Amino acid sequence: MKTLTPKGQISFARIPKRQALPLPTILPLDFGVRIRRAIRQDMPQWARLRKALWPDCSVADSEQDITKFLSQPERYETFVAADGNRLVGFLEASLRNYAPKCKTSPVGFIEGWYVAPQYRRSGVGRALVEAAERWAAGKGWTEMASDALLENTLSHRAHKAIGYDEVERQVCFRKVLRARK
Ligand SMILES: CC(C)(COP(=O)(O)OP(=O)(O)OC[C@H]1O[C@@H](n2cnc3c(N)ncnc32)[C@H](O)[C@@H]1OP(=O)(O)O)[C@@H](O)C(=O)NCCC(=O)NCCS
Repeated sequence: MKTLTPKGQISFARIPKRQALPLPTILPLDFGVRIRRAIRQDMPQWARLRKALWPDCSVADSEQDITKFLSQPERYETFVAADGNRLVGFLEASLRNYAPKCKTSPVGFIEGWYVAPQYRRSGVGRALVEAAERWAAGKGWTEMASDALLENTLSHRAHKAIGYDEVERQVCFRKVLRARK
């Protein structure tokens, strides 16, 4: 693994904030990690990273999801962080018609965001989010939203650090229904 440079020395920051990036997006970070759009060939590593973020998600489920994302580029976009041929992070973004407290529709939504532990705190997560924000802004959307589990305080801190305001807390419920014929 490459040695990471200290936090803050990220070439990504030199890209003008509102500049539209040509596709495919390739954003270099100082220590060799690149942010780019995910492609079909990424599927095995992408599924491995999904498993690290969502341990209950089977490889088969991930393959199904990934196939769906890649076949609907108007609705889904995924960015990966690659260190050479090795994927070390991903961000799955989508179009959502509604997100809590958003004033516009549709909005971009961060569905999944993960960076491998050895690569954290070096700007990779932020670069993934900025790539997704550029994707959403390029579609003309003016808001980006996200969510996190109540107990995932690391994620709360990371979201706030990159400019996201907390707007709502939620508790989810479930009930199994009796089959009716
Ligand atoms: C959340 C996650 C993707 C962030 O990735 P990362 O590469 O470490 O993020 P960055 O280095 O770009 O950090 C972005 C900001 O978040 C903040 N941050 C990140 N990790 C933090 C931590 N452990 N404690 C406090 N702040 C933190 C930093 O302040 C940083 O801003 P700064 O560099 O200007 O100080 C990563 O920690 C992760 O994969 N966590 C486990 C999975 C997860 O919880 N995903 C989110 C699901 S909603």
